[in-house]
Amino acid sequence: MNRSVAFTSPNTSEPVVVSDRLRRSLRDLRVSVIETCNYRCPYCMPADRTPEWTERDHASSANRLDFAEIETLVRCFARLGVSKVRLTGGEPLLRRGLPDLVARLAAIDGIDDLALTTNGSLLARQAKALADAGLHRLTVSLDTLDPERFSRLSGGRGKRDDVLAGIAAAEQAGFTAIKINCVVQRGVNDSDVLPLLAHFRGTSHVVRFIEYMDVGTCNRWQRTQVVPSAQLRDLIHARWPLRALEPNYRGEVASRYAYADGAGELGFVSSVTAPFCGDCHRARLGADGQLYTCLFAAGGTPLREFIAHGDAALTERIAATWVGRVDRYSELRGDVPGSEKRIEMFMVGG
Ligand code: GTP
Ligand code: 5AD
Ligand code: SF4
Ligand code: SF4
Repeated sequence: MNRSVAFTSPNTSEPVVVSDRLRRSLRDLRVSVIETCNYRCPYCMPADRTPEWTERDHASSANRLDFAEIETLVRCFARLGVSKVRLTGGEPLLRRGLPDLVARLAAIDGIDDLALTTNGSLLARQAKALADAGLHRLTVSLDTLDPERFSRLSGGRGKRDDVLAGIAAAEQAGFTAIKINCVVQRGVNDSDVLPLLAHFRGTSHVVRFIEYMDVGTCNRWQRTQVVPSAQLRDLIHARWPLRALEPNYRGEVASRYAYADGAGELGFVSSVTAPFCGDCHRARLGADGQLYTCLFAAGGTPLREFIAHGDAALTERIAATWVGRVDRYSELRGDVPGSEKRIEMFMVGG
């Protein structure tokens, strides 16, 4: 890794732009606030391969960054051009006092988009506090509306109605254009695609279908389980004609479509069939302070011990890591032998 980065001008208010080795700047930060979840989705945290959350929670909570540490880190990332922050987990609403962190991050200069990805199970009781604290946007995972399948897809831990109640509470709290994320697995929930759209059509919410990925080491992914987005798009188009929309911003992960009849918007995240590494401006921070430069990284760069050295040293450490970045896993998938070591999705969120 190239550690001799020319990092200057910490006293100006302008962010310092850093580019990685593939000329990608740093714009977007995903912050995991907890490394566990109350669900056990088979594609992320299969119950037979991951420990129970109570044990894990107990064992690892001491390693978690506290809110002041996260705030310091996000401030340094903002100095390097990050304007967009997404809070993730595991399940971030399991982290006690989260609205306090939201308020701290919303107040950081340069952070103009603050979002949260949640499984929605605990949202009903927290939506208002999150809105009051200044959270801008919400993404809720919802793979099916069928109650039995929902239960199975959450590893027997979740109830569909809790998630729907969470979305309703979020609407009440003033959140609009909520993103609804659905990971599609062939033969598992591909028949749920149209019912999910039927439910949210005509609202401001945006359902996004995500190609099932080989992320982490425990989901037993096989390419045959992936439903290519193009296939889904054709299926949907035959039922409700669609028209493609321009991206909201360069490097947007999802490709956007509108219903031709004006009933709203939907999207596809196609990292298997149409990888988007070339425009990947995302860094990920684990709950323990490890910095990951790719969802498929084998390891991270520890930042926690640098916090005590002050903002300039910390910013320099982040910049040095970013300028050495060469990750483009999804573009290489299949062309290179996969690393045996790989960060788990529940350590770095979506
Ligand atoms: P917006 O800020 O609303 O545009 O969010 P987003 O489009 O970045 O979506 P979100 O963070 O909800 O990501 C949706 C899903 O896309 C994630 O849960 C992952 O499955 C996948 N995804 C997001 N970022 C990446 C990435 O950098 N690489 C890959 N391979 N997949 C990603
Ligand atoms: N493939 C694709 N997306 C995944 N997620 C978790 N595991 C996978 C996977 N194997 C994403 C989903 C979920 C978010 C928290 O993480 O989008 O909504
Ligand atoms: Fe939990 Fe989300 Fe992973 Fe499911 S996908 S186990 S809800 S972190
Ligand atoms: Fe970015 Fe890695 Fe995803 Fe490619 S695979 S888009 S480099 S996080």
